[in-house]
Amino acid sequence: MVEGQAVFITGAGSGLGKALAMRFAQEGARVSILDINKERVTEAAEEINNSVGDDRVLPLTADVRNPDSLHQAVDAHLEQFGSIDTVIPNAGIWDYNRSITRMGGEEIAALFDEIMSINVKGYLLTVEATWRELLKSRGSVVMTLSNAAYYAAGGGVSYTASKFAARGMVIQLAYELAPKVRVNGVAVGGMRTNLSGPVAGGLQERKFSDVMDKRPEGGNPYIPLHDVSTQPETFTGPYVMLASKSDGANITGHIVNIDGGIAARGFANSAGGDSL
Ligand SMILES: NC(=O)c1ccc[n+]([C@@H]2O[C@H](COP(=O)([O-])OP(=O)(O)OC[C@H]3O[C@@H](n4cnc5c(N)ncnc54)[C@H](O)[C@@H]3O)[C@@H](O)[C@H]2O)c1
Repeated sequence: MVEGQAVFITGAGSGLGKALAMRFAQEGARVSILDINKERVTEAAEEINNSVGDDRVLPLTADVRNPDSLHQAVDAHLEQFGSIDTVIPNAGIWDYNRSITRMGGEEIAALFDEIMSINVKGYLLTVEATWRELLKSRGSVVMTLSNAAYYAAGGGVSYTASKFAARGMVIQLAYELAPKVRVNGVAVGGMRTNLSGPVAGGLQERKFSDVMDKRPEGGNPYIPLHDVSTQPETFTGPYVMLASKSDGANITGHIVNIDGGIAARGFANSAGGDSL
């Protein structure tokens, strides 16, 4: 389905981005993996190349908040692979459920700015740096969203707002880039990754998998399918389908919501705002 494609994935030194790079490389694509963490992305490329037995993955270092650094990475990708068929804006951070009830104005302002600049501006700048190539290849964008793009309780207010904003970008960019470039999203659920938080909240060394370790075994109270063992690999299939120029041909402005059944079940309990 995506064999021979040239793919550009951000935040791919770890977690879901790395799992996506592995999946696309296994499907026969050539993949640039971009991350702010050079060591991580270099090791990830080596691991995937060794696994598929071919130099199919190129590591790139850039900060998605910086347009120049993104354009340099795109140039390096083009030098190696010559074109871009699929772009996956995926680099993100989480706010560790910081509720408005736990922060003052200054703290919220700093945390909000950092989350938005990576999760929203970073996605937009990634598309800005690549859409001209996608136009030439009749390619597509597949953005990583979250169940927080649809529901409360997948993060705090800043993270939820950032994923709703990214959902808006899928719709608007699908409109702006049609009919030559398709733009879709995949809303993934909780999974074991290194997902960290903003420097502004002192959360940059945290890992989401540590949060999962503190949750009880045997299921999440409000997500019927996912549990504390859920791995990023299990979310990669819909990306391949949407990126495929045959299977995804007529799909744009759409989001595959892999919410594990949240919509079928609703919330188990309230967050406790009534106890304030
Ligand atoms: N882990 C989950 O439970 C979960 C749930 C829903 C959605 N998501 C989304 O999945 C995406 C990937 O997150 P993950 O869980 O794989 O986390 P992760 O931390 O394992 O991977 C994210 C990568 O992005 C990189 N990154 C962070 N800031 C960057 C920047 N400014 N420029 C370039 N790279 C940067 C990090 O170094 C890291 O390697 C994010 O958009 C996240 O919001 C994750």
